[in-house]
Amino acid sequence: MSEQKRDVSRRDFMRGALAVGSAFGGLTILGASARGQAKKALRAGLVGCGNRGRAAAINFLEAGKFVQTETAIVALADVYQKPIELTRERLKQDGCDIPDGRCFAGFDGYKKLIDSGVDFVLLATPPVFRPAHFEACVKAGKHVFMEKPVCVDPVGGQRVIAAGEEAAKKNLSVVAGTQRRHDTGYLATKKLVDDGVIGSVWGGAVYWCGASSWITRKEPGWSDLEYMMKNWINFVEMSGDHIIEQHVHNIDVMIWFMGEVPAVAVAVGGRARRKTGNQYDFFSVDYQFPKKNFVHIQSLSRQVNGTWSRETEELIGDKGRILAKSVYLHPRKRVELPKIEGHDNAYVQEHVDLINAVVKEKPVNEAEQVASSTLVGIMGRISAYTGQPVRFTDVAKPDGQFGKLALSPTAEDFEKGEIKLPAEEIPVPGTAEV
Ligand SMILES: NC(=O)c1ccc[n+]([C@@H]2O[C@H](COP(=O)([O-])OP(=O)(O)OC[C@H]3O[C@@H](n4cnc5c(N)ncnc54)[C@H](O)[C@@H]3O)[C@@H](O)[C@H]2O)c1
Repeated sequence: MSEQKRDVSRRDFMRGALAVGSAFGGLTILGASARGQAKKALRAGLVGCGNRGRAAAINFLEAGKFVQTETAIVALADVYQKPIELTRERLKQDGCDIPDGRCFAGFDGYKKLIDSGVDFVLLATPPVFRPAHFEACVKAGKHVFMEKPVCVDPVGGQRVIAAGEEAAKKNLSVVAGTQRRHDTGYLATKKLVDDGVIGSVWGGAVYWCGASSWITRKEPGWSDLEYMMKNWINFVEMSGDHIIEQHVHNIDVMIWFMGEVPAVAVAVGGRARRKTGNQYDFFSVDYQFPKKNFVHIQSLSRQVNGTWSRETEELIGDKGRILAKSVYLHPRKRVELPKIEGHDNAYVQEHVDLINAVVKEKPVNEAEQVASSTLVGIMGRISAYTGQPVRFTDVAKPDGQFGKLALSPTAEDFEKGEIKLPAEEIPVPGTAEV
């Protein structure tokens, strides 16, 4: 029996597994330990059965195979039945046959899924729902994988950090969908930076510039709620704007490699081409690290068709530089990366790390880290919208200048069905309310 399999049958996990055994009957009994004790698969439920959620569920199953630990997706929740059915159908190929009784449609589906006896919850809805869903998972004692970004406003970020602290007290594991932190190439690059190979970092730039995102136009007969749900990626209240919905990945690498969040953001941004919603097309943020030799790192994010594309992170040190997963000594001598063990797909490796943390009883908790990266993106967004510098403390603390900012409608409003379309007005710096 492998190390991982032996670990699965350990005291704490088995207690949880056996406690819900009757709810699952023989379905998840996939093996027996050396002592003849029945062993259950690690059971996960997926909330948000869209493109990423479906992929994350498959990644979870693949991660289980990689570490030779039985995993199963046993419950699905989505506001709509159609994505549930699509996901259910797809997961049959991986041996997961999810009965009607464990498919939960509606805005309260996540609550029923959490109560259905799962050990893990995978959260992959639009970001606006993340703080409420994450809080509920932690309250119920579930291990969590949650997609980035994890909030759309400062209040949401603080909620995720607080729930993360509760998760730590309960020894729960929490992994976030900022997958570069689980990517063997990035980990090897980080090791070289930590070993001083590029020297002290003196500046850098992080980019996600590319094409515009998808849009869904409002159809006759749709309520405001339905329109916002179907065009979520174009509303700041739902996605947080593309500086966090997409570019948070690169901002996260910046923070990870610098070892701290930037103290201040000074940003510009604007909109020229977008057709729906209320977001900007582009942001340029000067992130400042006064405690690190006053280093400035520029963040550029743009979603405009027909413009130059670049998605990477570059840090310049006095001896060399990194460009994403490549390391160079000045001027251009490539440095070989050390070998880091792991799955070659970071989307799988993040679940490997989650599963190993639970099985080996060494909790991992990325809640604060991903919430901070999201809040740093929000600093940039608020600075661009208003034309004012924004400090991390302005968003991270309730008594900060923007610390009580909560966009509306909220996840709770959606649950109540009380949705009024926000004005599709674009913030004008110098005059903008955030
Ligand atoms: N890590 C990555 O590289 C990566 C890549 C793509 C997307 N994402 C993130 O994953 C998340 C989902 O993105 P997507 O592309 O799958 O979106 P999507 O629109 O394809 O899917 C979202 C799904 O969530 C469902 N949903 C919405 N609100 C819900 C609620 N309250 N309860 C239950 N279900 C709900 C929707 O009906 C839909 O099926 C986003 O946060 C996105 O930023 C991460």
